Amino acid sequence: MSAVDDLKNRKTPVFSGDDVTVLFVLGGPGAGKGTQCERLVAAYGFTHLSAGDLLRAEQNRPGSQYGELIKDYIKNGQIVPMEVTIVLLENAMREAMAAKPTSTSTPTSTTPALKGKFLIDGFPRKFDQAVKFEEAVCPAKFVLFYDCPEEEMERRLLERGKTSGRSDDNAESIRKRFRTFIETSMPVVDYYEKQDRVARIRANVPPDEVYRATQAELAKRLGDNF
Ligand code: C5P
Ligand code: MG
Repeated sequence: MSAVDDLKNRKTPVFSGDDVTVLFVLGGPGAGKGTQCERLVAAYGFTHLSAGDLLRAEQNRPGSQYGELIKDYIKNGQIVPMEVTIVLLENAMREAMAAKPTSTSTPTSTTPALKGKFLIDGFPRKFDQAVKFEEAVCPAKFVLFYDCPEEEMERRLLERGKTSGRSDDNAESIRKRFRTFIETSMPVVDYYEKQDRVARIRANVPPDEVYRATQAELAKRLGDNF
């Protein structure tokens, strides 16, 4: 059975929320998700998995059966069919867990060494992804949501586009990405907000300030010793 079929049929999560800490990181394109994730990795030892980065890597992998499809979706700012993205995330989680040191090799560690800590960045961007991931891969602890006005995100993306080499950091693709964000991704944030699982962080301030607010939310929701 293919990984996609296996995922479609699965009704229980492969990872337990007791063993694995997953935080979803959401926000419009250019809200600063990647920047904040980098800092959290350095400070807390999270594994950072960006859905967009994983899709771009799969797009460029020679022989990928999804390469062309991913390329079209990304250029048009649309959401790639969820099975593709979820299988990429699940595989990356398995790899990271397998690479973790065993408890005997890290006797000084304050957290259980086999416990994975993941920032899942840019995911879930659509309701079906949210439901399927939590049902079949792992329940998330909560969502870090970076809230930023469109004008500021546009300014950042156009600036990044000068050097990023990304096919979607141009004015036309950016317009489409904003539309997808409002129509398709914000309902996911609203869904989690109703469950009181969203830490909303103002993101149109300097990165240091955003990071301090992020740390405060982690302390509040996961405890000081996390
Ligand atoms: O997060 P990032 O801006 O890198 O995502 C780039 C593109 O990857 C999105 O505009 C979308 O086309 C695709 N993507 C997706 N599903 C996700 C994350 C990204 O289809 N969960
Ligand atoms: Mg990113």
